[in-house]
This record gives sequence, C-alpha cells and structure tokens, in this order.
Amino acid sequence: MRKPVVAANWKMNGSLELCEHFARTLVRPENADVWIFPTALHLGSLTDLFRESDIGTGAQNVWCELDGAFTGEVSANMVATLGAELALVGHSERRAMFGDSDEVVARKFKKISDAGLVPVLCVGETLEERESDLAFEAVQRQLSAVEEAWDHPVYSHQAIAYEPVWAIGTGKAATAEIAQEMQALIRDHIDRRSTGESQAVRILYGGSVKATNASELIAQKDIDGFLVGGASLDVDEFNQICEAVNS
Ligand code: PGA
Repeated sequence: MRKPVVAANWKMNGSLELCEHFARTLVRPENADVWIFPTALHLGSLTDLFRESDIGTGAQNVWCELDGAFTGEVSANMVATLGAELALVGHSERRAMFGDSDEVVARKFKKISDAGLVPVLCVGETLEERESDLAFEAVQRQLSAVEEAWDHPVYSHQAIAYEPVWAIGTGKAATAEIAQEMQALIRDHIDRRSTGESQAVRILYGGSVKATNASELIAQKDIDGFLVGGASLDVDEFNQICEAVNS
C-alpha cells in the first residue's frame, strides 16, 4: 500500500512569514505525507521550523555538480546539510525556461540521489505533444533519459510527479481519466524496467490541483498524491487538499 503525499511547490513565491504561518497552521494529515518545496532562500528556515515534525522539506532545484564556479546555484549536498530530505528535478518550468534538457535532468537526478536526498522527478507532455498523440512518448523519453544515466535503475527511493504542461498554472487540471491513464502507463513503464518496484513507487499528479478537484483525482488507482503549485500558497486551501487525500 502506497502512502499518499501532498507536496507544495511554492515556486518563486513565499517569505519567512509564509514559512512561519505554515508551521503554525498546517494540519498534518494522519494518513499522508506532506512535503514542502520553498525557494532555496527559505529552505533552511522552513526546515528548522519543521525539524521536530515529520513534514518533509526540499529544494525546487539543484545544480548537477557538488561545488565549483557555478554562480547562483546550490548543490544537492548543501540541501542535505540543511536537513532537508528531498529535491524536485525536471520541473517543466525549468525544462522550458532554464535549459534543463533531459541530459541535465539526468545528471541532477544522480547528484540528488548520491547526496541521499529523495528525487521527485517531474515529467509531462506539452499541449502540442498531447494533441499529436505523442503524450506518452514524451513522458517515456523523460523517464528513459534518467534511467539510462543510472548504473542500476532504482525506483524505490524516488517519487515521480506527472505534470502535463498544459495543466500547470492554467486552472485547467487534467481530468481524472486523463491523469489516471497516464499514471498507469508510467507504472507499467516502471514495471517493465524494474523487478517488482512499480507497486512501491509513488506517482503524484500535478497541474491546477485545488481543494475542489482533489477528491476526484485522488480516488484514481494510480494517483498517489499531488504536487500543488498555486493552491499551496494558501494554507487553508492546502489543508483542504491534505484532508481530501487523507480521507
Ligand atoms: P499549479 O502548479 O498547481 O499552479 O498548476 C503545479 C506545479 O507546477 O508543480
């Protein structure tokens, strides 16, 4: 049985006040994990605030080297040193705006794993790819790029977030059927590549998740939780999403 997760991706939003507000008012769901990804600037403070709890914290991005002349970047080891446990990798905003190619994503993924963090690999097709019936090909390409860079594929220490690009920040979430269909395809893909790990790996859905659509989405067999962007900045709404996942 996979424990569901509700993850907050604050993107380039938030403040120390928001971190403190979350620490005071987040209602920890009994049957689900909660992960929060603030900016790198707020990660240390947020991790300290949640240190005595089992809320997980992580970075939205790391660079694919451990140190050196990479102005403006942070490394997976630095994130681990803060006491954070997770890192997103391959978010579509990074792929589209910051040049995170499949190859760069694979290198970052490896560094995140090597640092002992749990990578949350984001994959998802563009609208064009979906309309050309290439949605699964795109997702499979993104998964394979990471798998090929591993010495031994290990799925049990990672999570995957399926985030169709056309659903991110648009207010138009994938229907439960579309999300379930792709998440099942991702699980089948893992099943073909691993020895019995596909039932253990948590596959989250992301893209315009809100309090109003969380219950229908989480009822799907292969949706093991959410990566929530915009709606995660409002702790009341985030609590409602956690409640939907918990029940
Ligand atoms: P959204 O973002 O919930 O605002 O659509 C999700 C994400 O980008 O992770």
